[in-house]
Amino acid sequence: MEKLVITGGNRLEGDIDISGAKNAALPLMCAPLLTEEPVTLTNLPRLADISTLTDLLNHLGATVTIAGGNGGALTGRSMTFDASNIADTVAPYDIVRKMRASIIVLGPLVARAGEAIVSLPGGCAIGNRPIDLHLKALEALGADIELEDGYVRASAPNGLTGGTVRFPLVSVGATENTLMAAALAKGTSVIENAAREPEITDLANCLIAMGAKIEGAGTETITVEGVDKLHGCTYAVMPDRIEAGSYAIAALMTRGNLLLKNARLGDMGAPMDVLAEAGGIITEEAGGVRVKSNGHIGGFNIVTQPFPAFPTDMQAQFMALASIADGASVITEAIFENRFMHVPELCRLGADITVTGASATIRGVKSLRGAQVMATDLRASMSLVLAGLVADGETTVNRLYHLDRGYERLEDKLRTVGAQIERVNG
Ligand code: UD1
Repeated sequence: MEKLVITGGNRLEGDIDISGAKNAALPLMCAPLLTEEPVTLTNLPRLADISTLTDLLNHLGATVTIAGGNGGALTGRSMTFDASNIADTVAPYDIVRKMRASIIVLGPLVARAGEAIVSLPGGCAIGNRPIDLHLKALEALGADIELEDGYVRASAPNGLTGGTVRFPLVSVGATENTLMAAALAKGTSVIENAAREPEITDLANCLIAMGAKIEGAGTETITVEGVDKLHGCTYAVMPDRIEAGSYAIAALMTRGNLLLKNARLGDMGAPMDVLAEAGGIITEEAGGVRVKSNGHIGGFNIVTQPFPAFPTDMQAQFMALASIADGASVITEAIFENRFMHVPELCRLGADITVTGASATIRGVKSLRGAQVMATDLRASMSLVLAGLVADGETTVNRLYHLDRGYERLEDKLRTVGAQIERVNG
C-alpha cells in the first residue's frame, strides 16, 4: 500500500500549477454523450476519478482518445470523446461503486438514447447521499423512473419534454443532470433553486458551445430551451478552485509565499475571505493568485453552505489551519452529516478539537507532532497532508487512493515549492 511520508517544518515558496477542476471535468466528460459529434476537452487533470469515468464512457460505447497534452508538465491534457455510437445504456455497479459522480451519466443518456439504467451509488464515507432530487427532476422532464435490483431505470422512448424543476434543496449533481437532460428535451425547462457553483457555469458554457440554449447558469434560476441536436466543440476545463484553496492554506500554515498558477480568485470565493481573516495576504496577479502569510494565524468561524457560501469541500483543510491558529475556531458542517472523520486523525497529530453535533470547536495549539494517520476521504486526506507539512517530525498518511481521486501529482507539486514529502510503498 502506498503512503505519503512528510517531514514537517519547511516553509513553502514558489509557483504551483493548479490543475483543471475534477468537479467540473466529471460532468463535462458526460456532456459528449449528448451528441454524435466528437467533443474535445482540454486542461483535464490526471486523476483516478477521470480514469473511472473514462472506463464508464467506454463501457457505454464512447471512444475516448488522449488528444495531446503538454508532455512532462505537471498539469493539463486533452481528450476527445466520441459518443457517435451509444452501444449500452447500463452503468454497472462495478464502476458506479468506485465513484458516486457516475450518476451524472443518467440525464444525458436518457436524453440522447431514450433510456438509462444506472446502478444506485449507495452510501459513501461522508454520509448517505441520496439521489432522489436527480430522479424527481428527470420525472419532471417526462422520464419514467423505476427502481429494481439496485438499479435505477430512467426511460423516455419518445424523448424528454421541457418542464419546471424546483429543487427543495440545492444539489450540484442534480442541477448538472437536469441541465444536460433539458438541453435535448422538447420545449423550455426552468430549473429553480439551481446550484450556483462555478462548475455549473463551466458545464453550461460547454453545452452552449455545443449548441445548447441556456440562460441564467450561475444564478438560482436556469432556463433551457431544448434543441433537436447538439454538435461537437473544444472546451477548456476551468481551474480547480478546491485544489487552489488547499494550496493557499499550505502557504499560510507554513508562513510561506505561493503563486497558484492559473487559479481564478473570482471562483475561489468565501474560503479566500476566511483565509484573509486568518492572516493570509491574497493578491491576484497576471499568472494566477498569490497567497502569503502576514506572520500570524488567527481563529475563524465557518458554516458550510452551497456556493457562494463556504464550500463543504474546503472544510477539512480549514480545520487543519484552525488547529494551529492563535485562538479558537468553530466549523459547522451543514451539507453532509458525516464529514468530520478527519477529526480523530488530526487529534492524533496533537490538534485540540471537540465535536458537538454538526459543529467542531478547534482550539489552536502551538505545534502539531508527526504520527501515523489514516485518510478517510478525499478532502480529509488533504487536511492530514496540510497538518503534516507543519507537524514536528515525520507524518505518514496511509490510504492514498482517496487523495489520488482528486489531487493531481500532489507530492510533486509540493516538493517543487520546498516540502519534504515522499510517496513510499509498504
Ligand atoms: C458535489 C461535489 C462534491 C461536493 C458537493 C457539495 C462533484 C463531483 N462532487 O457532490 O465534491 O462535496 O457537490 O458541494 O461535483 N442530496 C439529496 N438528494 C439528492 C442529491 C443530493 O438529498 O438527490 C443532498 C446531499 O445528501 C447533500 C446535499 O444534497 O446533503 C448536497 O449534495 P450535492 O450538491 O448533490 O452533492 P454532489 O453533487 O453529490
